[in-house]
Amino acid sequence: MKIYKATVKNINIAAKLLLKGGIVSFPTETVYGLGALACNKEAIERVYKVKGRPKNNPLIVHVYNLEQILSITENIPNEAYKLIRKYWPGPLTLILKYKNSSNISSIARANLKTVAVRIPNHPVALKLLKVVNQPLIAPSANISEHLSPTKASHVLKDLGNNLNDKKDMILDGGSTSIGIESTVIDFTGNKPTVLRPGGLNITPINKYVKVSYIESNANNTTPISPGLFKKHYAPNASLRLNAKFPLEGEAWLGFGKDPKNIDNFTKMNLSLTADLDEAAMNLFAMLRLLDKKNIKKIAIKEIPNKKIGIAINDRLIRGSSK
Ligand code: TXA
Ligand code: MG
Repeated sequence: MKIYKATVKNINIAAKLLLKGGIVSFPTETVYGLGALACNKEAIERVYKVKGRPKNNPLIVHVYNLEQILSITENIPNEAYKLIRKYWPGPLTLILKYKNSSNISSIARANLKTVAVRIPNHPVALKLLKVVNQPLIAPSANISEHLSPTKASHVLKDLGNNLNDKKDMILDGGSTSIGIESTVIDFTGNKPTVLRPGGLNITPINKYVKVSYIESNANNTTPISPGLFKKHYAPNASLRLNAKFPLEGEAWLGFGKDPKNIDNFTKMNLSLTADLDEAAMNLFAMLRLLDKKNIKKIAIKEIPNKKIGIAINDRLIRGSSK
């Protein structure tokens, strides 16, 4: 399997492969997705297989405009419209009522009456969606339960052997700018509920719509959403969270100024200036680099639980549960 630079020419080739039932990995602003036509049952079955993903975990449908959203969903609440107007394209996924007359494959939705939709904010993703001109499902392009990919090389490493040279393609659009998956908000229950904290900060959303936020969700063993299993986003190494300094045998993953006297440890830093956005962008790539060094245990500095730090902590808690 080869990686192709996301030029207009290669995006056009990728679109043709998708229309023939192939799988294309493409960058979004959050993480790399593993795309297939949302109406193509066989292609979607192969996406589940390539990732080793359980079939009861539904996929996000990606589109490029509101018209496409209206063709696959119904009864969009006014409150959801407020967020759509404000935040799309962007790192926000909405769970809406599925329109039965639409042709999104039921296996993509894990047979639910709802569907997850999002308009990604990335020129390559938007261009690809426009050329294909049909909705694409795109889970994160990693082996199920492992770290999401923020570079094309991560996709190649995780899934290269499971993809087909002739039918499939990996498009390289550089490192993703946000680095953490989209925020998922469910609008099909009694009140809008955040199912997954993510790249879009929840706090300002509350200005437009009051969302309830399942804070302790990462510790639940029974998932509220099929995809919210406890273990997820896990590196090979085990994680020790909220550490002050590394212990014998541990690598150090810092945030802000590093502790003194740790020169003998393998160490990386999510953001020396304690910038949460920078930390989110670096998180999965640094955990992958530490895995590459065959580190068995990583001590991670406390990350402030605000803004995108909430999503970082959610991923770290899930990543640390075995
Ligand atoms: O940023 C992202 O969202 C990336 C990029 C590629 O767009 N995609 C992504 O997809 O993270 P995935 O499949 O890794 O995560 C989708 C999440 C899962 O937690 C899944 O359970 C949830 O969305 N989901 C999908 N459909 C749902 C539904 N109908 N009801 C509840 N949760 C749903
Ligand atoms: Mg995922």
